Amino acid sequence: MPLLRAPLLAILVSMALCQYYDYDYQPPPMIGLGPSGPNCNQECDCPINFPTAMYCDDRNLKFVPVVPTGIKYLYLQNNQIEEIKAGVFDNVTADLRWLILDHNQITNAKVAKGTIDKLTGLEKLFFSFNNLTEPVIPPSKTLEELKMTNNKMTKFPSGLLNDKENLTSVNLQFNQLSNEAITGAFKGLKKLLSLDVSHNKLKKLPAGVPSSVEILYADYNDIDSIGAGYLNKLPSLQYLRMSHNKLVDSGIPGGALNVSSLVELDLSFNKLKSIPEINEHLEQLYLQANEINKIDIASFCKTTGPLNYSRLKHLRLDANNVTHLNLPLDAGNCLRQASDIMFE
Ligand SMILES: *[C@@H]1O[C@H](CO)[C@@H](O)[C@H](O)[C@H]1NC(C)=O
Ligand SMILES: *[C@@H]1O[C@H](CO)[C@@H](O)[C@H](O)[C@H]1NC(C)=O
Ligand SMILES: *[C@@H]1O[C@H](CO)[C@@H](O)[C@H](O)[C@H]1NC(C)=O
Ligand SMILES: *[C@@H]1O[C@H](CO)[C@@H](O)[C@H](O)[C@H]1NC(C)=O
Ligand SMILES: *[C@@H]1O[C@H](CO)[C@@H](O)[C@H](O)[C@H]1NC(C)=O
Ligand SMILES: *[C@@H]1O[C@H](CO)[C@@H](O)[C@H](O)[C@H]1NC(C)=O
Repeated sequence: MPLLRAPLLAILVSMALCQYYDYDYQPPPMIGLGPSGPNCNQECDCPINFPTAMYCDDRNLKFVPVVPTGIKYLYLQNNQIEEIKAGVFDNVTADLRWLILDHNQITNAKVAKGTIDKLTGLEKLFFSFNNLTEPVIPPSKTLEELKMTNNKMTKFPSGLLNDKENLTSVNLQFNQLSNEAITGAFKGLKKLLSLDVSHNKLKKLPAGVPSSVEILYADYNDIDSIGAGYLNKLPSLQYLRMSHNKLVDSGIPGGALNVSSLVELDLSFNKLKSIPEINEHLEQLYLQANEINKIDIASFCKTTGPLNYSRLKHLRLDANNVTHLNLPLDAGNCLRQASDIMFE
């Protein structure tokens, strides 16, 4: 019997695991651990071949269950959790690496002291689709990824992330953050690569973004201008998205977008009447759904020559007030790599 049971169990476990593949939180495979995992909370599952993972997702939980010694990866998404009671993490304060709390109803008032504020080894904290009005940040210096999208956050106090030297990715989209509310929030993050503040209440791009950032998304805000030297402070920035804002020509000082690191720039769904000056190295430019009524080649090339030309490949100008007839006759020389210019 035991011989027969083992493979059957393996199949069941691997079937159970399959459903997590599309949720993109797979713990790294654990090598060299025996079949006897730690005690599992009876409300959850701890797969025999991943004894450090505890799956408590999708089961109508109201509270975070007590987490037994040895658990490093904790999945609690898709429940009705409103509260994190004191003591639940007491046996894993140093060991817990991933904490996944997406799609619950947790409010700040119900996160007891002595819970998340004791986790010193956390690497990923996913706390999206909850009812937070301000961030809940663990003291862990090893934090690498922070997702708190789709909450009700109105502030992100300065300095909370100061000591997170390995934090590379911060997602705060779909909150109610204003510029004043995030002043100083990202200071000290030496390795931050990606910051998403889309769908908030920003009137300008966030201040104090670390110079390491490569990706900055600020779509769906109320941004009407870009500071003259703003992008010069972000020498690594490659992807900048500012679609669905309120950008007007007068809000973009000459040269403000002319930085050589940018590869992709999305300014679609704004109120621009002309094409801003961009750098020769830019490859993708999205300007659809503005009010553009002229095309000036000087926006792309101040001088055109054998080595002086725009690297632009894709340019979207649809839903503006221009057609291919507005393209100057000599445009082909400057835009010699633009294989795809969309007018409609
Ligand atoms: C927590 O650790 C203590 C001391 O090692 C142990 O007695 C207790 O059973 C543990 N509780 C859980 C839920 O693992
Ligand atoms: C969380 O927010 C949702 C949507 O706004 C609301 O329906 C629910 O009552 C809130 N839950 C708590 C515990 O505040
Ligand atoms: C940050 O990452 C580096 C390289 O992986 C590692 O050596 C270092 O210990 C980490 N720092 C912290 C505070 O975890
Ligand atoms: C962008 O800046 C470079 C270097 O400062 C300059 O040579 C180029 O003419 C500028 N391009 C545009 C379109 O203003
Ligand atoms: C490119 O333009 C710059 C001035 O913007 C000029 O100094 C340089 O000689 C030009 N290079 C070529 C190859 O035309
Ligand atoms: C669109 O362009 C045409 C021709 O250039 C011009 O007559 C018209 O006023 C423009 N409309 C708007 C809304 O800018």
